[in-house]
This record gives sequence, structure tokens and C-alpha cells, in this order.
Amino acid sequence: MPFVRVINLNDVVEGRPVLAVVGETDVALFRIGNDVFAIDDLCSHAQASLSEGEQHGHVIECPRHGGRFDIRTGKAKHFPAFSPVRTFPVKIEGDSVFVDVGDD
Ligand code: FES
Repeated sequence: MPFVRVINLNDVVEGRPVLAVVGETDVALFRIGNDVFAIDDLCSHAQASLSEGEQHGHVIECPRHGGRFDIRTGKAKHFPAFSPVRTFPVKIEGDSVFVDVGDD
């Protein structure tokens, strides 16, 4: 799947993660400064939506068990999460945010 327009840039506010559905993939979007990052919304530990977690700078804390992930790389940073989550390329054009979820 190529880049798909998912949201207005102004609707992605720092500290307030947003869920976007791209094809069949649930994507969590995060704003850090002028950048937007996209990762798999599903926590790699169990069934939880990372867009419902608390963002602390470049770290998202899972709302279920408190696992933490680096928003920029998808790497797990804190127990009980140890597997990474997928990251997706983001492109910003004007006021539009585009995400490429790959083959979904
Ligand atoms: S479901 Fe996310 S840390 Fe357990």
C-alpha cells in the first residue's frame, strides 16, 4: 500500500496520541515537535491499544501493563514489553499526514 492520507497535521497534538485505521492496520500516531511518528497500535505484549497510553516525550506507555516503547524506533524500553512494535513511514505535505503501512 502506498502512502495514504490519514489525518490533518493540526489534529495530531503532542502528548495526545491518535488512532488511525489504514487499510486493515490500526496505527498509533504521535506528534513530537513538528514531526509525526506512526507505530502499530497493538502492543506487542498483549491486547492493548497504544494510542490509549500516556505519551512521555518520545516514549509511549502501554495503558494495560505499563510496558514502554520508543515512538521513533518501535523498540521496547520497559518490562513487560520486550518485543518491538512496527514503525511506519510518515510523510507530511502541507496540513496533511500520510502513512505507508506496507503490504496491508
Ligand atoms: S499489553 Fe502492553 S504491556 Fe501488556
